[in-house]
Amino acid sequence: MKRILVVAAIGALAAGAMVGGTTIAFAQADVIKQRQDNRKAAGAAMRAIKGVIDAKGDTKGAVEQAAKLKELELAFVKLFPAGSDKGETKALPAIWTNWAGFEAASKASMAAYDKLAVAAGSGDMAALTAAFGDTGKTCGACHDKFRAKAN
Ligand code: HEC
Repeated sequence: MKRILVVAAIGALAAGAMVGGTTIAFAQADVIKQRQDNRKAAGAAMRAIKGVIDAKGDTKGAVEQAAKLKELELAFVKLFPAGSDKGETKALPAIWTNWAGFEAASKASMAAYDKLAVAAGSGDMAALTAAFGDTGKTCGACHDKFRAKAN
């Protein structure tokens, strides 16, 4: 009886390991998609803020988008597990070899989003326009170092 249980347990372990392998492959494709969707949303938020600036209306229309950018950024850096440099991704290996640098680039963007939020709340369109430009530079700074130009 005991012996049968042990054999059954080993069988279950082996099956689990095989399923586990497939799960990891799926999980990586998944996490790559999640971080790309995250960045698409960041792009959309930036376009929405540009829309507020172009419309020369109330800067407060950008408050929510600035908060959204911050929320997205907090989630973004958690989407780079080891091994997710492989696949349909433009994430460069430098992210994993220079994680501190990658985090610093993300923090620089976070600081820019804070200033963007303040400017958006201020009613001062010139301040919002300047903060928007500065934010865009922090996006570009990370891309220059950590994102491939082409696949
Ligand atoms: C800390 C680094 C970092 C910051 C900051 C950053 N990005 Fe990116 N971005 C990346 C990386 C890495 C990728 C590639 C992700 C992948 O392909 O797995 C990317 C991809 C993108 C993409 C393409 C998404 C797709 O696959 O369709 C867009 C759009 C984008 N970023 C916009 C932005 C905008 C807008 C900002 C600033 C508001 C920003 N990013 C800030 C690192 C960053």
